[in-house]
Amino acid sequence: MSAALRAEGLVRVFSSGAGEVRAVDGVDLELVTGELLVVRGASGAGKTTLLNLLGVLDRPTEGRVVIGDRDTTGLSESALADIRRDMLGFVFQSFGLVPVLSARENVELPLRIAGVSAAERTERVDEALELVGLSGQADQRPAELSGGQQQRVGIARAVVARPRILIADEPTGQLDSRTAATIMDLLGTLAHEQGLAAIVSTHDPLLVARADRIAELHDGRLTLGGGPGGAPRATRAEGAGGGSPASDLDSEPEVEAAPASAAEPIPAPAADASHPLTRAELRRRRTGAP
Ligand SMILES: Nc1ncnc2c1ncn2[C@@H]1O[C@H](COP(=O)(O)OP(=O)(O)OP(=O)(O)O)[C@@H](O)[C@H]1O
Ligand SMILES: [Mg+2]
Repeated sequence: MSAALRAEGLVRVFSSGAGEVRAVDGVDLELVTGELLVVRGASGAGKTTLLNLLGVLDRPTEGRVVIGDRDTTGLSESALADIRRDMLGFVFQSFGLVPVLSARENVELPLRIAGVSAAERTERVDEALELVGLSGQADQRPAELSGGQQQRVGIARAVVARPRILIADEPTGQLDSRTAATIMDLLGTLAHEQGLAAIVSTHDPLLVARADRIAELHDGRLTLGGGPGGAPRATRAEGAGGGSPASDLDSEPEVEAAPASAAEPIPAPAADASHPLTRAELRRRRTGAP
């Protein structure tokens, strides 16, 4: 199982007139391929600061971020931009869509910037829109889509260049709770079935039930939890199932259990057996069932 991203001893101190704030205060973290890690924390806990550091949008005061096998410490701005373009996908709370462009054109944008040929762009955009269950809405503009659909476009845009790592800062912050749950399910499905390493922040306790692993952030300090060893599934189930994540809209999260394909090259870790139980238990608590 490979670490897609590693943070070691991350510290980010902001200085202002009011003094110093240690927004991120000694965070060690490993994000693994195929997992959805949810970072939970109250407003001001440091979620955005941490995700900005992990996404090499900001530089740490201390510590380092390793993406793949590349230590990003001391890299130039353009080298960091290359890493972001090639390795990372970002999803934003405010969706960040261009209003005058259709869903298709919004998703296509990063590929245009990367200089991908027209034929390949079409193929990849179709694939990304299908992944998020929006093939039928490709020609609609953001204003003609619901909030949940707009965020699906945002997610399609984040994955269209096939990043290894998906970073989402409160992607459900502007959505009602039911839509938020379907978006979190979609992020989990993408992590499991597309072999992405996904890290998602939220302040919504209900959404953590969708996580493979949970990290609590409090005053810049991170506590990892979420099951024995927090071992995620390392699966890249290409072609498995064939179902679109859109089908998750009305289904229970159980349906996204890792496909039991004999072709899976990586055996499930022992801790994986407890994973569905943990999720089921969390869900029971969430729904208030006995
Ligand atoms: N550019 C900055 N300059 C000074 N202080 C900052 C800056 N950015 C963040 N902070 C401070 O760092 C702390 C963490 O902020 P951060 O935005 O990371 O929290 P958050 O968990 O994302 O909160 P929210 O849920 O409200 O988005 C806060 O105390 C904030 O005021
Ligand atoms: Mg924030």
